[in-house]
Amino acid sequence: MNSLSLSHRARKTPPSPIRKLAGLAQQAVERGTHVYRLNIGQPDLLSPVEFVRGVQSYSGSVVAYEGSQGSRELLAQWSEYLNRDYRIGITPEEMLITMGASEALIFAFMVCCDPGDEILIFDPTYANYMGFSAISGTRLVPLPCSLENRFALPRGEEIEPFISPYTRAVLVCNPNNPTGTVCTDDELLMLVDMCHRRGLFLIVDETYREFVYDGRKPRCIFELAPRDEHIIVIDSLSKRFSLCGARIGCMITWHDELMRAAFHIAQARLAAPTIEQEAAAHMLGGIKRRYLDDAISEYSARRDAAIEALAEIKGVVASVPQGGFYLLARLPVLDAELFATFMLTEFSMAGHTTFVAPAAGFYMRHELGKSTIRIAFVLNQQDTREAIRILGEGLAEYSKRHPEQCLSS
Ligand SMILES: Cc1ncc(COP(=O)(O)O)c(C=O)c1O
Repeated sequence: MNSLSLSHRARKTPPSPIRKLAGLAQQAVERGTHVYRLNIGQPDLLSPVEFVRGVQSYSGSVVAYEGSQGSRELLAQWSEYLNRDYRIGITPEEMLITMGASEALIFAFMVCCDPGDEILIFDPTYANYMGFSAISGTRLVPLPCSLENRFALPRGEEIEPFISPYTRAVLVCNPNNPTGTVCTDDELLMLVDMCHRRGLFLIVDETYREFVYDGRKPRCIFELAPRDEHIIVIDSLSKRFSLCGARIGCMITWHDELMRAAFHIAQARLAAPTIEQEAAAHMLGGIKRRYLDDAISEYSARRDAAIEALAEIKGVVASVPQGGFYLLARLPVLDAELFATFMLTEFSMAGHTTFVAPAAGFYMRHELGKSTIRIAFVLNQQDTREAIRILGEGLAEYSKRHPEQCLSS
């Protein structure tokens, strides 16, 4: 009998490192353990009431398909918000509403690249980019960034040797998940210049755009490179407004032909969700700036709480994020996945434990992240401190029970 085999693509698509240990966390919960979840960027701040009211007041009698480009109201409100806050002179024609930034990224990969083409990315990277590359048949080429150098982008002359005849785009996430690095204007302008000289697209993932700390100003790349046809901005309401489950994102480009091609793909998948788009339009039309200001100061305080708590743990080296809501911390262990598993299966303190994401899956070269974890500071300050204190106690216990797995400091 002939055996059935799946596509190369199916076999190459990696599991999410963020969700990898979720089953163990669930078992811990079922054993009655309280699990502090620092593993996933699921914000706990309340979604805006304007969105909730928008959903509740949905008046349609048939939930019909929206247009493939997105709802007119949402496109109008989103472009107005971008013009008000960033003065980029955008019209709805340059925007395409997608099911989260995730779908916008898949569209961008699909329209920029043929199978086998390459996209330069900065390593470590948002792990799902690897999934999007597997789906689209593109190859990600990692440009190494290091904890010692606060994950700053490499210089132009260090990047250029990685450009090959197959390179089609550079992808940068600003502010960055998982490193928390925020690009300087000079770095962004260096990428813009390089993409112009080398005939490449520049995909800028601005999912965390507003979340920048220590007095930094949020930056949309189109402020630096107005109406630049090489640039594709990926945007999302998921994190900015605690709306991960609404699945609303968008792709922005001034490249007509590229937008037309993306629109054809969008037509093939029909439309993004109708009710959520209506509610999002309602929200963007009525929300006060205060919502975001409060969210930014809360995340900034959580970041400080996380860094202070980590500083108390011997042998841990962490980066101080300038934006976003993640940080990478190197632990004095050989394999952070084994340690994260230990926290969920063998350890608890007064019925509590902490769930962190092993960072190897965020590195294209997994071995570079073997001793590192990613922490999402999405819990309130008190819980963040407590979760990290428990992590420290867990590390101490791990070094007693599994000394062969630990590095002496
Ligand atoms: C850098 C980055 N880009 C894109 C996404 C996907 O966001 P969305 O929920 O809008 O699909 C995420 C989600 O965590 C992310 O961290």
